[in-house]
Amino acid sequence: MKALILSGGKGTRLRPITYTGAKQLVPVANKPILWYGIEAIVAAGITEIGIIISPETGDEVKNKTGDGSQFGAKITYILQDLPLGLAHAVKIAQPFLGDSPFVMYLGDNLIADRLDGYLATFKSEQLDALILLRQVSNPSAFGVAKVDEMGRVVQLVEKPKEPPSNLALVGIYFFTTAIHEAIASIKPSPRGELEITDAIDALIQEGNPVGARELEDWWLDTGKKDDLLEANRILLDTRIKHKNVLGEIDSESKVIGRVEIGAGSTVKNSTIRGPVIIGSNCQIENCFIGPYSSIADEVILLDADMEHSVLLKGAKVIGIHQRIVDSLIGQRVRLEVAPYRPKALRFTIGDDSHIELV
Ligand code: G1P
Repeated sequence: MKALILSGGKGTRLRPITYTGAKQLVPVANKPILWYGIEAIVAAGITEIGIIISPETGDEVKNKTGDGSQFGAKITYILQDLPLGLAHAVKIAQPFLGDSPFVMYLGDNLIADRLDGYLATFKSEQLDALILLRQVSNPSAFGVAKVDEMGRVVQLVEKPKEPPSNLALVGIYFFTTAIHEAIASIKPSPRGELEITDAIDALIQEGNPVGARELEDWWLDTGKKDDLLEANRILLDTRIKHKNVLGEIDSESKVIGRVEIGAGSTVKNSTIRGPVIIGSNCQIENCFIGPYSSIADEVILLDADMEHSVLLKGAKVIGIHQRIVDSLIGQRVRLEVAPYRPKALRFTIGDDSHIELV
């Protein structure tokens, strides 16, 4: 069994963060989204992993993730020159996949369930494809399954205007080599891509055994800010189990609940209420940091209040006592308010940024 992780794409829905980086590398609870997928795959006993990368962000993904040894895996990078679809990615990965069955994992998807159970079902039921489904309120944004009264999947449609059900296709699929033939039989969709949804539908229409399971626990497609913040909230809640402080905290500060603080970070005259994760070499002074905040390495926070927010590496926030909430703040961003009542607002803000003074 091998794994194929898709980590290309332009990440348009996460702009401006994704102008300078891959969406799959945006951290959730201070770890790149992509790495959760790698860890889930390795935990299911699969160690031969191919990662599809794009010309725009491929080097960053490669440099950050490496050869896989840190995960106990062997990673092969496969360049997809143009974003021609998920099924196209499988096509160009054929030399890597050979005649092995494989799990395909979209690098911006996160699920709570382990993969082992689904892998066992895929094998024991001798399926050509096992798909995972989840009820959603906005099925038109996904691949959607039409199921009969017995619960069997009879058709799959990609982003239908009139969805036949509210069962969305989760971006994690198990395939045998039968998928390669199905991919060879399909044509590009109206958005000009070879859709994996169409290839699986071709398997169904040809009568190949295709199974489906509804996910038991949460699923997040982290492609948008609110989904990313929700993933951050859930992961902080489930993965930060204890207080673990490596940095220095002065006697004026209060650190309450499940809080992790990395080495070299200093906290002065501040309150931190978990679940919160703070990276290494951060400087925090006169702040309140509330639940569900993830602060990456080398962040400086002086005289600031925040909660339910994600700050990326090297960001600096100074003098903001209106509480910062539901925010995603990019690498090296500087957000400063003068200590006296500011008379003017002065901005240098990247394309597609969102500033809301609410
Ligand atoms: C892709 C698939 C879609 C699936 C979704 C899950 O959509 O095409 O069928 O439901 O991933 O994340 P995309 O993210 O490319 O719009």
